[in-house]
Amino acid sequence: MSSQLTRRDWLRASGLLTAGLGLSRFTPAEAARSNAPFVSAFTNEFSFADDPFAKMPKLKARLLANENPLGIAQSAKDAIVKATEIGNRYAWMEFAQLKTPIAADEGVKPENIMMSPGSSDVLMAAAEHFAKEGGTILTSAMTYDDLLQRAQKFGAKIKAMPMTKDFKYDLPAIKAAITPDVKLVYIVNPNNPTGTIVPTADLEAFCREIAPKVPVFIDEAYIDFYEPADRPKLGKLVAEGMNLILARTFSKIHGFAGLRLGYAIAQPDVLKTLHAYTNGEFAVSITTLMAGVASYKDIDWQNHCRAENAKARTYTTKALTDLGYEVIPSSANFILFPIRMKTKTFEGQMFAQGIGIQTRDFNGQPYCRVSVGTMDEMTIFIDGFKKVVG
Ligand SMILES: Cc1ncc(COP(=O)(O)O)c(C=O)c1O
Repeated sequence: MSSQLTRRDWLRASGLLTAGLGLSRFTPAEAARSNAPFVSAFTNEFSFADDPFAKMPKLKARLLANENPLGIAQSAKDAIVKATEIGNRYAWMEFAQLKTPIAADEGVKPENIMMSPGSSDVLMAAAEHFAKEGGTILTSAMTYDDLLQRAQKFGAKIKAMPMTKDFKYDLPAIKAAITPDVKLVYIVNPNNPTGTIVPTADLEAFCREIAPKVPVFIDEAYIDFYEPADRPKLGKLVAEGMNLILARTFSKIHGFAGLRLGYAIAQPDVLKTLHAYTNGEFAVSITTLMAGVASYKDIDWQNHCRAENAKARTYTTKALTDLGYEVIPSSANFILFPIRMKTKTFEGQMFAQGIGIQTRDFNGQPYCRVSVGTMDEMTIFIDGFKKVVG
């Protein structure tokens, strides 16, 4: 099984970072051909000696890491400047300024929340903890791989169920695959890289049924792109005492990918356990925290980013559909669609035009995942795409 992807692996597997840069990497096609066990073709160890990120070229359209192209809110920038005045102090009491409103919105208590420098820390901690006694992590066949790869390194097996025909997590199939060996169920919603979301009522029912037996980890990195009224209200299940771990990030709609802020919502004893694998909240700087407080309150900015994302996503989806491509409907800030040429060739030709995207083979079919940038970037993407596909 080699169909899960980390952010780094998207980049590493990409011709964008390998073509012409003198780096020796597996291509997606090579990975797809690999008969080795789960993700083995994508477990290239990170080495500072040949850090591909250090060599990333300047792009006209940077559409490869699902970042927020609009940046961070002005209110967050102002908060950062102001917080420099207390940069000599450890952040401590200030966490309440963020946890209190999040708790109120989620219907949980502040002690159900642990802040972290991005949600990756929460994913890594959970991976290590739930893998340490062996057993299996249960998930879907094409999903985000950070937690899974780390769990595998710490001794877990990964069981990845096929997706539904419309590229969604197949919750009934996952339910049917639960055995005593399963230590954690990992669900990404909306899913990366497909952009699909499982129906809210189905997810809530699934969690109610499964969480009393097996902990369920819901990675909601992209949930902010979904209309607030339609989002699953999983906090209320945590408040009822269920063994759910929700991972959230400020990296996406808040634009904090570089600032690093995220959080977990779970039972206090679970947070305490996860905390033992990390530096916990101590790793969050006071400037980032105060920026987070400002950005969380800045509903206008979040609405603006969601609306701009939806506009550029609709434009891109329509343009690709008009060109005869079948686009998987996305609820996130990226789009996945099947392409008709080899991944490496496609990437190379897009890259040559200064357009950064990611590609991947899945079940023998090459796909392009394009992040939703500004309208200008998406126009550049579509124009470049037309040149490549003729
Ligand atoms: C599904 C998913 N989860 C978690 C993350 C981690 O993001 P961060 O550590 O920036 O919060 C990402 C990053 O792209 C992601 O796609």
